[in-house]
Amino acid sequence: MTKRVSKWTVAYFAAVAMMIAPMTTPSAAQQPSAGGDQAQIDLGKRTYAQNCSHCHGPNMVNSGTITPDLRTFPDDWTRFVTTVKQGKNGKMPPWGDILSEEQIADIWAFVASRRKP
Ligand code: HEC
Repeated sequence: MTKRVSKWTVAYFAAVAMMIAPMTTPSAAQQPSAGGDQAQIDLGKRTYAQNCSHCHGPNMVNSGTITPDLRTFPDDWTRFVTTVKQGKNGKMPPWGDILSEEQIADIWAFVASRRKP
């Protein structure tokens, strides 16, 4: 009896895992659509606040003298993801080992949402 129950328990979790997996599996790296959706922007905002805001300023507002104002960063995903992963000039730290490409894409959605015209 115990054995049978645990078998069904395993089957149950396996079924749940199969239903959840497609939703949580990161999609292949690709240029995020401009602006992203609000949920992604919110995620990016949080990731930004945890990792970037102490240098780039809360909500990207900073004097622009030491770190660039990300609101004026061009609409160039390739340059963004390259800089963020590899860092720049020894001043901008590399994030390739810390953030996933999805997290970087979330931040990008947040950056795009605040871009100055
Ligand atoms: C330790 C401070 C620091 C942190 C933390 C930091 N940055 Fe930077 N970042 C810099 C500096 C300094 C530069 C300017 C580098 C240069 O141009 O020499 C920069 C530049 C950039 C640029 C412009 C690169 C370009 O190609 O012009 C982007 C985009 C950027 N950072 C994104 C981020 C993101 C996203 C995060 C969080 C994951 C982050 N930064 C965290 C200091 C930081």
